[in-house]
Amino acid sequence: MSLTEAQADGGRDTAPDAASHLSRRTFAIISHPDAGKTTLTEKLLLSGGAIRAAGQVRARGERRRARSDWMKIEQERGISVSSSVMTFERDGITFNLLDTPGHEDFSEDTYRTLTAVDAAIMVIDAAKGIETQTRKLFEVCRLRDIPIITFVNKIDREGRHPLEALDEIQEALALDVVPMTWPVGMGSDFFGVYDWQAKRFLTSSEGRGNRFDTIVDVAGLDDPAFTERVFPNVLAELEENVELGAEAYPAFDREAFMEGHMTPVFFGSALRDYGIEEIIQFIARFGPAPHAQPATTRIIRPEEPKVTGFVFKVQANMDPKHRDRIAFVRLCSGTFRRGMKLKHVRANKTIAVSAPIFFFAEERELAETAYPGDVIGVPNHGQLRVGDTLTEGEEIHVTGLPAFAPEVLRRVRLSDTMRVKQMRQGLMDLAEEGLVQIFKPQIGSNWIVGVVGVLQLDVVVDRLRNEYSTEIGFEAAPFSTARWIECDDELKLRKFLESNPSSVAQDRDDRPVYLFKNSWEVNYVGEKNPDIRFRETREIV
Ligand code: G4P
Repeated sequence: MSLTEAQADGGRDTAPDAASHLSRRTFAIISHPDAGKTTLTEKLLLSGGAIRAAGQVRARGERRRARSDWMKIEQERGISVSSSVMTFERDGITFNLLDTPGHEDFSEDTYRTLTAVDAAIMVIDAAKGIETQTRKLFEVCRLRDIPIITFVNKIDREGRHPLEALDEIQEALALDVVPMTWPVGMGSDFFGVYDWQAKRFLTSSEGRGNRFDTIVDVAGLDDPAFTERVFPNVLAELEENVELGAEAYPAFDREAFMEGHMTPVFFGSALRDYGIEEIIQFIARFGPAPHAQPATTRIIRPEEPKVTGFVFKVQANMDPKHRDRIAFVRLCSGTFRRGMKLKHVRANKTIAVSAPIFFFAEERELAETAYPGDVIGVPNHGQLRVGDTLTEGEEIHVTGLPAFAPEVLRRVRLSDTMRVKQMRQGLMDLAEEGLVQIFKPQIGSNWIVGVVGVLQLDVVVDRLRNEYSTEIGFEAAPFSTARWIECDDELKLRKFLESNPSSVAQDRDDRPVYLFKNSWEVNYVGEKNPDIRFRETREIV
């Protein structure tokens, strides 16, 4: 069953009944590093009352980093490696903001987090436009038809002309765009934002260039609120933009937005608080509420009475004092209550979820009740892994969680051979978290580690040292990429595997994988074996 089918069918009502999935808004922010994701996150949390002072998202990050050594890598390199969930409430709506690592080496984690959201805010730097990482992440959202809200940030600085920015989004991403707000000047002539749908001028009592603190209702662009505050040339340009915008761009169409074909565009400044409230209100009003979730045998709908959920992320050793891991479970249907016994479908076992956690910006809390769209953290000793489905007994697997063929392959070098067992356990654990992939070659005993980006290797070395007291290094492997091998004919598959022992390995689930020396070989072997499929991605089930 396709996702599009499922989403088109999904529950989309926005009536906010606090004790239901209809009041849930689960979303992520996607952006290129430096566009302003952290600042926007912080301002959204501030606005939702989840934190009390600016600077806390960063500070919280630092506290977290201080707690465990491997996160020093984050600190040194100024990147955020681990995803987390931040929940806040506003006007009866519960917002679940799923954080994603910004660095592209950790994109796999980001992709999987995007499987657990219903919408995404795409942050674009007004001067730089659409950058590579934004585009990549956008493509993932498009594959899944995730509705996108665009935030053109930093308009308090000199940026592109707003019409140019809108055209770029429209053309580069092949999306219909609808300007929801307009910048009133930019850079040194920045006066604020015009919310032309609600006819409001957002400005600063301290004058141009300052922080937003004033909303003025206006009748139109000739309103004294504008003429008395804004330079005539800035106002003339705004008038021209609004006029052209009204002609050039369609009106907001909720269905097109829900289907991921149209993006509302908010111009703003996260740093100076412009546009935050508009985005929150938009998400509250237009949703989307949790979508229906494709699964192996049917579509799971949020309004169903029985609980289903899936693990989209596992984080080990969040608290170094306890070796527990937290599985982040996105609920797809039913009303979850603490203490429930759920079936862990892959393992065919029942687990009692007695200490589920809700994540708020500053604290964690026991989750007594949770609804579809909510994310609960389930502490466990390693049973739960990314892609696992939990149900009230039904034999069903959520689909659509990808694993990607690694682009970097390395052989593991162990300094102290007495520690083979610890090293293997560590690597297995990290593989279950989704940080690395491991391949066991058919010939030889040295495992091969595969990652999407090289920074992940540093994290592996660090974590094995700190969490498993095992020193490892990596050396070049004679392979550059891997593909999962599939064939409908059992016999042919076996023959192929037997005749290529030096290139075949098994992944952690013992699925056969072909290790290629280079891209030429990928084509060559593919052409010579037309009955075999060499897959770049596989579903995690
Ligand atoms: P990221 O998470 O997407 O990587 O971006 P982040 O929020 O860290 O913002 C990157 C830089 O851009 C920060 O400056 C931040 O203050 C600045 N910034 C964010 N939003 C705006 C905005 O609306 N206007 C302007 N002018 N700047 C903005 P920095 O100097 O790198 O960091 P910091 O020293 O301010 O913390």
